Amino acid sequence: MSYDFDAPVNRLNTNSLKWDIEGDELPMWVADMDFAVCPEIKDALQKKLDTGVYGYQIVPEEFGKAISDWWRKRHGWEIAEEQIIFCSGVVPALTTLVKRFSDVGDNVVVFTPVYNIFFSSIENMGRKVYPSELVYNDGEYGISWNDLENKLSHPNTTMMILCNPHNPTGQVWTKEELDRIGKLCRKYGVLVISDEIHCDLTLPGINYVPYGTSEYGKEGIVCVAASKAFNLAGLQGAAVIVYDKSLRERATRALNANEVAEPNLLAVEGTIAAFTKGEKWLDGLREYLLKNREIFESEVEKNLPEVKVVKQKATYLMWLDVSKITKDSETLCRHIRKTTGLWITPGTQYRGNGNTFVRINIACQRKVLIDGVNRFIKGIKSFK
Ligand SMILES: Cc1ncc(COP(=O)(O)O)c(C=O)c1O
Repeated sequence: MSYDFDAPVNRLNTNSLKWDIEGDELPMWVADMDFAVCPEIKDALQKKLDTGVYGYQIVPEEFGKAISDWWRKRHGWEIAEEQIIFCSGVVPALTTLVKRFSDVGDNVVVFTPVYNIFFSSIENMGRKVYPSELVYNDGEYGISWNDLENKLSHPNTTMMILCNPHNPTGQVWTKEELDRIGKLCRKYGVLVISDEIHCDLTLPGINYVPYGTSEYGKEGIVCVAASKAFNLAGLQGAAVIVYDKSLRERATRALNANEVAEPNLLAVEGTIAAFTKGEKWLDGLREYLLKNREIFESEVEKNLPEVKVVKQKATYLMWLDVSKITKDSETLCRHIRKTTGLWITPGTQYRGNGNTFVRINIACQRKVLIDGVNRFIKGIKSFK
C-alpha cells in the first residue's frame, strides 16, 4: 500500500494549537505534522471509539511488547518489557525525573541550543539550566568536550538531559559521542536522561543510536514516544525506559506520584498500532520529508544566499542560520509573520547561539511547503 502525503487536511477550527491562526496565516512552528495519521492507527482508534464506553484504562502487556519489538528490530536495542513504563508524555516524564533525581538548586546540563521546554522542566522545578553550548562552525554543530567536562564536574551538577537526535539542530549523536558523554557522566556521578522522541525521524538511510546501547547506557533513563514520528502528540502517550531495577522502581514511584503514569482512552491503542503496523507509512513519510527538505533548501540557496541551511540528519525542523541578516531572530520572525503571515520559531527560544537562527517545520503537504518557502523568501527580502 502506498500513502498519499499530498492529501490536504483541514485543521482550522479543530482546536489545533498549530492552526489557531489569524486570517491567511501559515503556521510552520510547533513540531506537529499536517498529515493524517497512517490508516492503521486511525482504524485502531476508531475501533476503540466504537465501543462507546470511555472508562478508566490500563496499560496492557502489548504496549511494552510493541515498543520492545520496534526498538529491537529497527534500532538494534534489546529492551525487556518490564523495563518500559507508560507515561502521559515525554515532557511530563522529564519534569518528573528532574524532580525525583535532582535537588532544588542543582545544575542540570543540556547542550544548547535545545528544545526550549527542557528549560521549563528544569527551571519550574527550581533547578538550574547549566548549558554546554554546542560549537558552531560553518553550518555544523559539535560538542565542546572541555566545556562539557567542566559543567559535569561542577559539584552541583547531578543530571544531564540529552536530546537524541537533537532538536533543533538535527544532529544524530554517534556511538562514540554517546560513550564519551556516558563516561564523563559516570565519572562525575551525573544521571543521564536521554529524550529520544525524534529518533524515528532520521533522514532515509541514517540510523540513530539509542543511548541505551552505548557503553554506559544502562545507567541512564531513556524517554521515547510514537507521537512525533506518527503525529500523535494529542494522544499524550510516551514511555520511560529504565534498565537498572532500583532506578526503575524509583522512577515508577515518581511517575505514579505525579499522576502521569496512567493512559487516556487512546494513548495505548495509538502507540501499539504505530509500532506494530506503521513501519511502511513511516518510511514513506521519511522519503516525503526528505524531498520537502531538498526543495526548501534549494529554494533558499537560490534566492537567499545570505541564509545558510544547517546540515541536519534528523527531524522535520529546518534550522537556518540568519546571522548575516540579523542578531535578533525574534524581530526577524515577527517581521516575517506581520508581512507574509508565515509563523516560524525564532531560534532565541532555544538559547545557545539561537538568536541568529530560525526553526521551520516542513512536515506539510508539498503545496503548503512551497507557499511557506515563498513567504519566507519574501519576508527575508523585505526585512533587509
Ligand atoms: C525533544 C522533544 N521532547 C519532547 C517533546 C514533547 O513531548 P510530549 O508531547 O510527549 O510531552 C518535543 C516536542 O516537540 C520535543 O521536540
